[in-house]
Amino acid sequence: MAVLNGSLSCFEQMDDVQFNHWTSFLEQRTGMHLPRERRSFLETSLGLRMKEIGIQDFAAYFQHLQSARDGEREWLTLVDRLTVHETRFFRHQPSLDFLEEIILPRLFEAEPDRKKLQIWSAGCSTGEEAYTLGMIVNQFLQHLSNDRHCYLAVTGMDISIPALVKARKAVYEQYKVRHVPERYLEQYFIGQDNGCYQIIDTLKKRVCFVPFNIVDMKKTLLEPMDIIFCQNMLIYFNRDRRKKIIHQLVQRLKPGGFLVLGAGESLNNPHPELEKINFPNSLAFSRKKIE
Ligand SMILES: C[S@@+](CC[C@H](N)C(=O)[O-])C[C@H]1O[C@@H](n2cnc3c(N)ncnc32)[C@H](O)[C@@H]1O
Repeated sequence: MAVLNGSLSCFEQMDDVQFNHWTSFLEQRTGMHLPRERRSFLETSLGLRMKEIGIQDFAAYFQHLQSARDGEREWLTLVDRLTVHETRFFRHQPSLDFLEEIILPRLFEAEPDRKKLQIWSAGCSTGEEAYTLGMIVNQFLQHLSNDRHCYLAVTGMDISIPALVKARKAVYEQYKVRHVPERYLEQYFIGQDNGCYQIIDTLKKRVCFVPFNIVDMKKTLLEPMDIIFCQNMLIYFNRDRRKKIIHQLVQRLKPGGFLVLGAGESLNNPHPELEKINFPNSLAFSRKKIE
């Protein structure tokens, strides 16, 4: 067992050259920014995975990731190990209040007979955010008059395939639904004998999940969205990368559409086409309409 800056690690230690090599490789591929303080996290995560597949050192593992045969599959596993998937239903109530009180009324005021509403949950993890958006918007749509039918489509996207598999399954353990308000729990979930909760089919059909890498958005074919939620993902990227991502998100937003970020993701002048909308404890923008 090696002693590392006062901490214990049973895995190989990285020297500065190796650390820089790995962090720039990961930054380039995923946007993830790993500062020096996270060196032991990187050593441990790589070490655990290397142990599982019987690889002895970082250089050999790096080679393995580049290999044509298994490299791509291994990369997907590694990315899942290195990304943080913490999420929950109804995670940030002020952003959801903003959706209900400002975004939805404004979108329907601007286009009362709209036929479709498209929403994107970027970095959706295991699906809780996408389903939360689906429930709130569906509730709103139910209160429109009978002759107005609007089709709801929520697209959840994430770099982690295991997270997307869970999202598509749409079955959640009891502790995961503890933040779901009672009326939503009754309407959109079915309790199972094993104590888990399944999202009902009518909501499931409105929400789809697609793999994507936000750093490589040009490859993602998406129609322009009415609403994009991108919460608790940009914090893992450096400032330049965040700026580039915001630029790409704006390109995928309809004029008049809304971008909702995590409240703490401070951004100065994020984009000339974005207008900040003030709402308590939230960080949200509307894409300016072309005059
Ligand atoms: C902390 S979770 C946030 C989940 C949800 N948005 C929320 O606020 O509860 C961050 C998610 O971003 C995803 N992620 C990280 N880097 C990504 C990338 N380059 N492209 C797409 N998703 C990424 C992770 O896999 C993870 O599921």
